Amino acid sequence: MIDIHHHLLPGVDDGSRDMETTLAMLQMAVDDGTTHIVATPHANTMYAYDRTAHETLLQTVRDSMPAQFASRITLGLGCDFHLTYDNLEAAKANPSRFSINGKGYLMVELPDHAIPRTTPEALYELRIAGMVPVLTHPERNKTIQQNLDMMKPWLIGGLLLQITAGALTGAFGKVAQKCALELLDRNWVHVIASDAHGTGRRNPQLSEARNFVANKYGEETAHRLFYDNPRAAFEGSSLGEQPTPIGLHEDLMPKSWWRKLVGK
Ligand SMILES: [Fe+2]
Repeated sequence: MIDIHHHLLPGVDDGSRDMETTLAMLQMAVDDGTTHIVATPHANTMYAYDRTAHETLLQTVRDSMPAQFASRITLGLGCDFHLTYDNLEAAKANPSRFSINGKGYLMVELPDHAIPRTTPEALYELRIAGMVPVLTHPERNKTIQQNLDMMKPWLIGGLLLQITAGALTGAFGKVAQKCALELLDRNWVHVIASDAHGTGRRNPQLSEARNFVANKYGEETAHRLFYDNPRAAFEGSSLGEQPTPIGLHEDLMPKSWWRKLVGK
């Protein structure tokens, strides 16, 4: 499994508080079957994002890993990116600065409650600048929870969706779980990641969610969401063929005389 959303770096945001926690998170992920992790420190008004400093710290993490699991995990660097004016300008000026391994896929986090009115334009500008925005945990956003359809134009514009493994297994409550399932039912999800912040409730384990997805949606879907698509993001390559999203394009197509006649 490949985890592209993980607050692994010690002491830089509200994720791992120290190197000991970081190594415990890594041990937990390796034991659970994860082979690649992207460290995604926040870039928002609370936490400044210094790519060079984060790269240096990530190398320190690599150098600190015990031999028993160092060979079993590959680490990369990305960002948990907020759509602030300054962030947007910086990303447009240098698209590799915030993206996963500098290769274009960008994890985008919205505020928990409200959706800024400028969100569609911001996502569009990121696309035009050559990045592939990946919206993190829409299932946990209070506004989106009430209206999943609001994401339709964003998805048609090329936005990808990442849901949280813990949301599927109930760690974020029943509403988030229901939304995560609804998004999976619609084939709107591209990646499932941990968004790990420590070793407690928000830990890096993915396998329970992976098994759940494999049982409910099939092994092929589980492989696509936990391995194929996150690997493309890790490597900066194009996604393979995806299943047709349900309910995304139908409303936008003019009704034929036959559909009008039969009321569909
Ligand atoms: Fe995050």
